[in-house]
Amino acid sequence: MKVSFSDRAPAKTGTLVATVFADGEMGAIAKSVDEATDGLLTKVMARRNFDGSAGKLQMITKPAGVNYHEVILLGLGAADKFSATDFEEHGGKLFAALSDAGIESADLALDLPEGELPLEAPELAARIGFGAVLRDYRFEKYKTKAGKSGDDAKDDKAEKRLTKLKIVTRGVAKARTHFTDFEAVAEAVHKARDLVSEPANELYPESYAKRCKELEKLGLEVEILDQKTLEKKGFKSLLSVGHGSERDSALVVMRWAGADAGKPAKGKAKGKGKSKKKTDFDSAPIAFIGKGITFDTGGISLKPPAGMGDMKWDMAGSAAVVGAMAALAGRKAKVNAVGVIALAENMPSGRAIRPGDIIGSLSGQSIEVLNTDAEGRLVLADALWYTEDRFKPVAMIDLATLTGAIIIALGKEFGGMFTDSDELADGLTAAGKTVGEKVWRMPLDPAFDRMLNTDAADMKNIGGRDAGSATAAQFLKRFVRDVPWAHLDIAGMAWSGKTTPRTPKGGTAFGVRLLDQLVRDNYEK
Ligand code: BES
Ligand code: MN
Ligand code: ZN
Repeated sequence: MKVSFSDRAPAKTGTLVATVFADGEMGAIAKSVDEATDGLLTKVMARRNFDGSAGKLQMITKPAGVNYHEVILLGLGAADKFSATDFEEHGGKLFAALSDAGIESADLALDLPEGELPLEAPELAARIGFGAVLRDYRFEKYKTKAGKSGDDAKDDKAEKRLTKLKIVTRGVAKARTHFTDFEAVAEAVHKARDLVSEPANELYPESYAKRCKELEKLGLEVEILDQKTLEKKGFKSLLSVGHGSERDSALVVMRWAGADAGKPAKGKAKGKGKSKKKTDFDSAPIAFIGKGITFDTGGISLKPPAGMGDMKWDMAGSAAVVGAMAALAGRKAKVNAVGVIALAENMPSGRAIRPGDIIGSLSGQSIEVLNTDAEGRLVLADALWYTEDRFKPVAMIDLATLTGAIIIALGKEFGGMFTDSDELADGLTAAGKTVGEKVWRMPLDPAFDRMLNTDAADMKNIGGRDAGSATAAQFLKRFVRDVPWAHLDIAGMAWSGKTTPRTPKGGTAFGVRLLDQLVRDNYEK
């Protein structure tokens, strides 16, 4: 969808969206339409109990007295309660309502009140556009037949949808500046949703790594450590997970050097073969690490068949990392950041690891694998160790669809956050509130750590039935040394069965905006 901004009067034909505020107070354009239509808006509002409260929509078709095909009233509520999240949601709802009505183009007359607002008018205008673009997403590349959709006829590929939204507002230049940023983030969100939605026959470590490589066009440096390289370097824990698979495992390192003066990340020598110069950074980066299990059957500890198809999105943590890196590069964030994703497919076979096997790890520590379905922590263990070792980051944040237990604890409302750093906890909590990707702090504790002790090795990979998410987090902590670290268990957040204003059902890309916001708030120069 194309969103544009203008300070000229909206068109007199086509589709007009006009704003109404708390207690039915009409914006200037709504008022003028009301007058031209002999009070039609006033009458409709009374009849439909439309009081201008935030997020309400009312469509009026072919109003007599004006030349519009339809006039849509958008309720914005009380000016002192305007918020970024609400305005994004308005945009998302507006996109859905107009698309459902088969409207392809509309002018939105924002008419925000003069005087002090909680956020400036141009930002609010841009937020509406952002919300609309966020909502404008479908994963339909494998649909070949129009008119044969899933459970919802409106998903029909042939359906019309809003493709042009012109937002009439004051402060157009500022609105455009905001929106340019938001658009980069929205594109990154869509990229992450694409990755999460891909089935595992199409998206496996090698094909996934290739898609990461494409992000070099944004100015990221993307380095692929293939199976052989990982073997040489001693990623024994990560590689154990992919052992039963026909597909090779991989680790992808994505770097954005936006804070390094005079050394744009784009400047990588693009000769034939591999460039020797692997710019690590002038100043320490923030690091994001993602679980990228392209399919999780459970391995020899095989999962039950019901719902196993969901495990195509067991790479959502890694997709959030890819998306966050794309967002930072896309909006040219003044930060140094590194994204590391650990890619493997967890399959049962004659080569698969067995319950009871004892494996090594990049850290040198040994692990007794008592359940091959607790595989996410095995790939993250090596990825965390490697990231800290190589980049000495200012902080590490990992994202993973790690445990079913976190869904029991927090449902689909919060990601689980585990960290010893109050600073990271506060930063992530605040960022989550800002963007609507909420996290809730969960406990780390030596008592949970002790549950991982075993006679035969340095640790086992499961801690028993109790506190399953905490023992998983505690396992990861054994592979972090001196760097502030937070672990986000996003098993409940990665995929949504229902559509919300900004997020169509399916892969949510949870974490992309959270990490981007964390950087904006805390790490950008
Ligand atoms: N990928 C799963 C966790 C998961 C479950 C994510 C449901 C999303 C929805 C993970 O690899 C797993 O299988 N965890 C096990 C751990 C257990 C064996 C200790 C679990 O949660 O059952
Ligand atoms: Mn598993
Ligand atoms: Zn898994």
